[in-house]
Amino acid sequence: MHAVVADIDRPACELKGSRGIIISGGPASVIEPTSPAVDPEIYTLNIPVLGICYGHQLMAKDLGGITSVSRGTVKEYGQSSLTCEKTVIFRDVPDRPITVWMSHGDTVTAPPKGFTTIGATDDCKVAAMQDLDRRLFGLQFHPEVVHTEFGTEIYRNFVFDVCGCTADWDPRARVEQVMADVRRQAGDRKVFFLISGGVDSTVAFYCCYRALGPGRVLGLYVDTGFMREGDGEAIEHLVHEAGREAIHVADRSADFFGRLAGVTNPERKRAVIGDTFLTVQEEEFARLGLRDDEWMLGQGTIYPDTIESGGARHAAKIKTHHNRVERIQALIEQGKVIEPLVELYKDEVRVLGEQLGLPHEVVWRHPFPGPGLAVRCLCAESPAPVEPARMPLPAGVSGWIVPVRTVGVQGDERSYSQLLALDGIAEAEAAGALARRITNEHRTLNRVAVVAFRRAGRGVEGLAIHAAALTRERVALLREADDLVTRIVRKHGLYDAIWQFPVALVPLGAAPGRETIVLRPVNSRDGMTADFARLAPAVLDELAASLGGLDRVDVVLYDVTNKPPATIELE
Ligand code: XMP
Repeated sequence: MHAVVADIDRPACELKGSRGIIISGGPASVIEPTSPAVDPEIYTLNIPVLGICYGHQLMAKDLGGITSVSRGTVKEYGQSSLTCEKTVIFRDVPDRPITVWMSHGDTVTAPPKGFTTIGATDDCKVAAMQDLDRRLFGLQFHPEVVHTEFGTEIYRNFVFDVCGCTADWDPRARVEQVMADVRRQAGDRKVFFLISGGVDSTVAFYCCYRALGPGRVLGLYVDTGFMREGDGEAIEHLVHEAGREAIHVADRSADFFGRLAGVTNPERKRAVIGDTFLTVQEEEFARLGLRDDEWMLGQGTIYPDTIESGGARHAAKIKTHHNRVERIQALIEQGKVIEPLVELYKDEVRVLGEQLGLPHEVVWRHPFPGPGLAVRCLCAESPAPVEPARMPLPAGVSGWIVPVRTVGVQGDERSYSQLLALDGIAEAEAAGALARRITNEHRTLNRVAVVAFRRAGRGVEGLAIHAAALTRERVALLREADDLVTRIVRKHGLYDAIWQFPVALVPLGAAPGRETIVLRPVNSRDGMTADFARLAPAVLDELAASLGGLDRVDVVLYDVTNKPPATIELE
């Protein structure tokens, strides 16, 4: 049994012989006449079809007409509670409402002829539907995300019970298969790797090293100036395992800071960093006297990186990954890039790393974006004041809109909105519930953070965003804050329990040069969706006090938004 990802408009005749078809979600609206469509013949092939989110709405439109779908007045992003019926697709789902993850604007209002409704939430009356005779199913929510309870069971029911597939693959065989693929792709060429000290590039490098052996893999650790304190540890381990001649270290921070001077836009930052990486790689490649026809470029790209860069034709571009900038794309097309982890999710990469014998601290180090602290150090071109929020808030809570553009993902599409900071509510659960309500109701806000620390005497009205660039001084402050957070979180035994804990620097303060630290702890399995990690009051207080003690820090914020609607990184 194997699965293929096909373009949505693949003709039905080419899908004959499949055991089942899943129509995925997507950012478009089925109401628009030009939105992606399936060949309607797929519903008549006598093959089970499962529509997810956009796929669910498309199925309703294709089989029930345009009137069965409407633009929802209430949009649902994030967690909802689903009541479902006992039916094959919900086998092994308990008799109580279950938590499901939603991300949609349009809504199915009436099931098509032949279908019955088998699940509903408060805001979505047809959240699940089926036509058992034709084996057609539609789900408005996303069973594939870790936050949907029993999502795996729902897929298992579809794949095994409805489609009649049998399991014939063993994840333990993965390591052998990945290494065999590396040997096949490399042929007799050698692999030149940029390694960052992060999980993906470390595992990818080590995988190639184990597959190809000494002398055929060369790692280059480029100090960009944007690394975390302690990122060198993974490199030391690799040097220990593979030998000093397998790893070169180059301090190129002056190049990176130089090329990023005056760059404030996050997408530009990513593009410049990706490009600088390539230039540095080419220069070091030449400096080391390596011959072009003998070597390939190795990268630790994982599957979500390719999806979020718009890898599939209709997948929306959420943010350009630095491993997918134009010059890399050209090399990929020439067959000069090897990416052993490109089909894996983060959790699978870690299993692979453990199977390869890499140490726990290396394999379980929190994921860290390739562009490093550069994308966690927010910049601004011009000053802008904070504005008081006008929406109704609970008694004792005040809110203000921070004029930074932060990234969100709403209906699978990248969107920029503003940050709402709330004062007077520190309890995580209550703050999270309020954040959910506000981001559902206000499309101009995708991120909500609560004030964990504010320097005495600095009133909210006096705070503003100030013009700020990417400087060594600001990145050093951020690195210090990040290291403080890591130490405190480790001390409380929370490091392994939290999936990722970005710490960001925002030029929000009482005067130019003053800063705000944003804490963004999240739980996730694959980075595609996440919920904010609940910090106990004692831990939050300790973090706030330590960070508030840093020079130039006026405010500490704790981000209490899930993904969706907010991405994990702020920009
Ligand atoms: P977002 O912010 O999109 O992040 O929710 C999802 C995961 O991807 C990481 N991330 C990046 N990784 N280059 C990377 O290598 C990037 O430009 C980049 N941006 C985000 C992020 O840290 C999270 O784990």
